[in-house]
Amino acid sequence: MALATSYYLLNSVILGGIPESVTAARAFIREALGENHPAVEIAMLLGSELVSNAIRHSRSGRRDGGRLTVAVVVAAGVIHVDVIDEGSTDAIPEIPLQIDELSESGRGLWLVRELSSAWGWRDRATGRVVWFEVNGPDGAAVPDHSRSCQSARAAGPVAGRYHQIRAGKD
Ligand SMILES: Nc1ncnc2c1ncn2[C@@H]1O[C@H](COP(=O)(O)OP(=O)(O)OP(=O)(O)O)[C@@H](O)[C@H]1O
Ligand SMILES: [Mg+2]
Repeated sequence: MALATSYYLLNSVILGGIPESVTAARAFIREALGENHPAVEIAMLLGSELVSNAIRHSRSGRRDGGRLTVAVVVAAGVIHVDVIDEGSTDAIPEIPLQIDELSESGRGLWLVRELSSAWGWRDRATGRVVWFEVNGPDGAAVPDHSRSCQSARAAGPVAGRYHQIRAGKD
């Protein structure tokens, strides 16, 4: 299988496992994609759901000094967001089979599934990665400002880690 040629880590940030980090993550995603990016609102919304979950359901928010990482990666036509938390022993990210109409909770991952093109999670030595992807219009996924983004240049293509998200397309 040919490797993709254009995967860019736009940026990543480490945040504390505290409620204020939800707002910080939204601002970070907006900054990474650019506020005029066509998919920025959805990426911010879904990113904030995953960050809320990391804080509420994992050690990132349950232990003093807990942290989480948000990373934004783009490829042609696809925005990929990772939220990496410190894991938990009592829960895994799963959409409830039945969502009570009157319940105010249990809709975050449902929303992620409905509004993303793909989502998932995996456990790694570095933590639990919960991710989603949203499609941007072809050619618009790498915002202009990323060309001057040092971390994007330093990171370069990250096809080895992310090429599976475009498997079959390159
Ligand atoms: N990062 C995570 N680590 C561990 N468990 C998780 C994580 N994210 C979600 N979960 C589990 O999946 C369930 C569903 O998550 P979801 O975001 O849909 O609902 P919620 O967080 O309980 O409520 P809401 O998001 O509507 O406020 C959670 O109740 C939790 O048990
Ligand atoms: Mg939630």
